[in-house]
Amino acid sequence: VADIRKIYNDIGVFTFDPGYGETASCESQITYIDGDAGVLQYRGYPIEQLAENSDFVEVCYLLMYGELPTTEQLAKFRDGVTRHTMVHEQIRNFFNGFRRDAHPMAIMCGVVGALAAFYHDNLDINDAKQREIAAFRLVAKVPTIAAMAYKYSQGQPFVYPRNDLSYAANFLHMLNSVPAEEYKVSPTLEKAMDLILILHADHEQNASTSTVRLVGSTGANPFACVAAGIAALWGPSHGGANEAVLKMLAEIGDKSNIPQFISEVKDKNSHTKLMGFGHRVYKNFDPRAKIMKETCHKVLAELGVTNEPLLELAMELEKIALEDEYFVSRKLYPNVDFYSGIIQKAMGIPTSMFTVIFAVARTIGWISQWKELIEDPAQRIGRPRQIYTGAVDLQYKDIASRG
Ligand code: ACO
Repeated sequence: VADIRKIYNDIGVFTFDPGYGETASCESQITYIDGDAGVLQYRGYPIEQLAENSDFVEVCYLLMYGELPTTEQLAKFRDGVTRHTMVHEQIRNFFNGFRRDAHPMAIMCGVVGALAAFYHDNLDINDAKQREIAAFRLVAKVPTIAAMAYKYSQGQPFVYPRNDLSYAANFLHMLNSVPAEEYKVSPTLEKAMDLILILHADHEQNASTSTVRLVGSTGANPFACVAAGIAALWGPSHGGANEAVLKMLAEIGDKSNIPQFISEVKDKNSHTKLMGFGHRVYKNFDPRAKIMKETCHKVLAELGVTNEPLLELAMELEKIALEDEYFVSRKLYPNVDFYSGIIQKAMGIPTSMFTVIFAVARTIGWISQWKELIEDPAQRIGRPRQIYTGAVDLQYKDIASRG
């Protein structure tokens, strides 16, 4: 180890930051977060104002182009996104290669990455027009692919997009319609879905976005970059958390088991976490969780599912954790995924689709961050270093003379 330290000392200043908690990997003008103050802004606009006044497609425009659109710009943008919602008929064939019980995130990783095999024109990342079309294609087609993944798992026919509906309503239509009866999208659920999409649209350099940027820094095409982002999002410490929240609630099972579960969480040897609590950046509160909490209670009341045992359990857990010294002293508050999981459960969306819906929302963030990276003259390939702690200068031993 002494030798290794000498080697690194000879290199000069060398930062060692596991998890990159103190390291900025880029300059960006897309999303601003002040974790201590609980501030989240897209292009300088507070998330609370966007959640109240905007809709997802307008937020997509804002993230991509840096300013709120005029009426004309928004209409053109909406039209562009709507025109790209269909996927190539050959993409249907991919689905037959997956087992019916495949996790929809596994299908998403594969099918979104495979878009590169269809849109060769978009592979020229140095052409600004092609970059823009790739962005349209991804934002428009990812919900269609997500709904197809769900329908495939249900053994139901795929539902084609309806271009007369809003982005959120069309997504719900593709998820819920069955051939004999068209699903009527309730305005409350449409609004709740739109809100879930807005609140998850971007979050600066989180694990999946950093993955998209790292892959993008190699010059890889936008479909490959977004597929890599989807893979990173799948993990339970990131986008998989909303699914993990529901699994945790099912495991706890009953309110009477909460005290035992909480003591298990406090026991470090158990490696059990209270899923949906805590955040790397927000150490006082997650502003998205605040908005989601209100919507959550509204949706539950409107759907009349306040007696659902899992949801009652979630509310009880929220109350206990907000009062318990362990969570309070570590500043562990419910994050956006705690409430988004509960809302989606109440909306009848299967748990395995929660992370997929997060991916649908985050696609605009990923592609906007990717565009910013490609258009940054200072961009170079991402290549972190390491502190090597293994052996050095060993002599190769013949197999017969080893231990
Ligand atoms: N349950 C119990 N204890 C926790 C939790 C939790 N959910 N989160 C953090 N802690 C504890 C840690 O064990 C640590 O305790 P210690 O000081 O006694 O060792 C302390 O709180 C500080 O935690 P860190 O590990 O420093 O937090 P970090 O910033 O590394 O992790 C993370 C953040 C990954 C989000 C973590 O809180 C977690 O795993 N939460 C549950 C998963 C989750 O909900 N993820 C969603 C994140 S939001 C998103 O992706 C949209």
